[in-house]
Amino acid sequence: MLILGIETSCDETAAAVVEDGRRVRSSVVASQHALHARYRGVVPEIASRAHLERILPVVREAIAAAGLSLDAIDGVAVGVRPGLIGSLLVGTSAAKGLAWGLGKPFLAVDHVEAHLHAGSLEQPAPPMPAIGLVVSGGHTSLFEWPCEGALQLLGRTIDDAAGEAFDKAAAMLGLGHPGGPRLETLAREGDPEAVEFPRPLLGPESLDFSFSGLKTAMRLAILAAADTPSGDPAASASRLPPKRRADLAAGFERAIVGTIATKLRRAVDRLDAAGRRPCSLFAGGGVVANESLRAMLRETAAAESLELRLPLPQHCLDNAAMIAAAASGRLAAGESDPLWTPAEPLSRHGRRGAAGS
Ligand code: KG4
Ligand code: ZN
Repeated sequence: MLILGIETSCDETAAAVVEDGRRVRSSVVASQHALHARYRGVVPEIASRAHLERILPVVREAIAAAGLSLDAIDGVAVGVRPGLIGSLLVGTSAAKGLAWGLGKPFLAVDHVEAHLHAGSLEQPAPPMPAIGLVVSGGHTSLFEWPCEGALQLLGRTIDDAAGEAFDKAAAMLGLGHPGGPRLETLAREGDPEAVEFPRPLLGPESLDFSFSGLKTAMRLAILAAADTPSGDPAASASRLPPKRRADLAAGFERAIVGTIATKLRRAVDRLDAAGRRPCSLFAGGGVVANESLRAMLRETAAAESLELRLPLPQHCLDNAAMIAAAASGRLAAGESDPLWTPAEPLSRHGRRGAAGS
């Protein structure tokens, strides 16, 4: 079974062909980072125009790299939510047009759920039920993934996602866009104990996350280190010795990873107490490319006796192979979606399930 996946929810135009939900026959990602760098963030109008220019060449390249013709595809899957609406509309319209023109099934995929399916690519299926953790630029969410039925939200960020906090902190340190990977590189040179950042836990019971206070903590820490009581943190950071900036990056990274570790263990305990202990841990999203986070996930999985499915690094960031993987179970079961399925900016995972706080 061959699925053409398409992804355009934010600033990557991506297409991929995945066989039987696991084997990546091709995966093409055209990043727009260079277009948005000077604005220090993604500009929605620029993003949707760039998707429009790139989508058909990217799809053609994915089909050619898979060594196929379009006729060989069994279905077309696309991320329809959540994301920037103009960007989502480009991919969704392209996928619908292809599915209709080829007479093949159309499958609508939730982008956040797809991040969890990235762990299935090129790896054997783990035992279920599972717990899922998505850590991306737009989401920080914990899910219960039962053997049968839909993912249940256990907790999510009440303000900024972890990736967004990384990007904003990196901008304050003068590191440019996208900040997450640059902050990780700088953090490797620093001492994570040198500067203490808060670990926002939202009380002893909560499975939700809150990272916006960490941005304020970074701004205050930079201004204090530079001995400038107010002003532009990036200007102050540029006056700091490199080791001091690295210490700030390392302390910040440790606070985020430590907070996620606490919530993850809490969620496993909660499911255990409810008699629904997970057997596996799926993690996904751009921040899961971070080596400190990956190391923490390996440790937690070992300590909790969970089988870990970490996506390969190239499948952590937005890509279309995960979209195809997320659709494969439904297509194999003979399901598809109508062509009037809308693109939606918001996630449908707005409410927590019974085990969530
Ligand atoms: O999943 P993704 O590609 O897009 C969304 O769905 O949001 O995640 C992008 C986010 C960005 O915030 C980026 O800075 C962050 O993932 N990121 C990282 C690393 N690589 C990407 N954050 C920390 N460390 C990294 N190595
Ligand atoms: Zn994503």
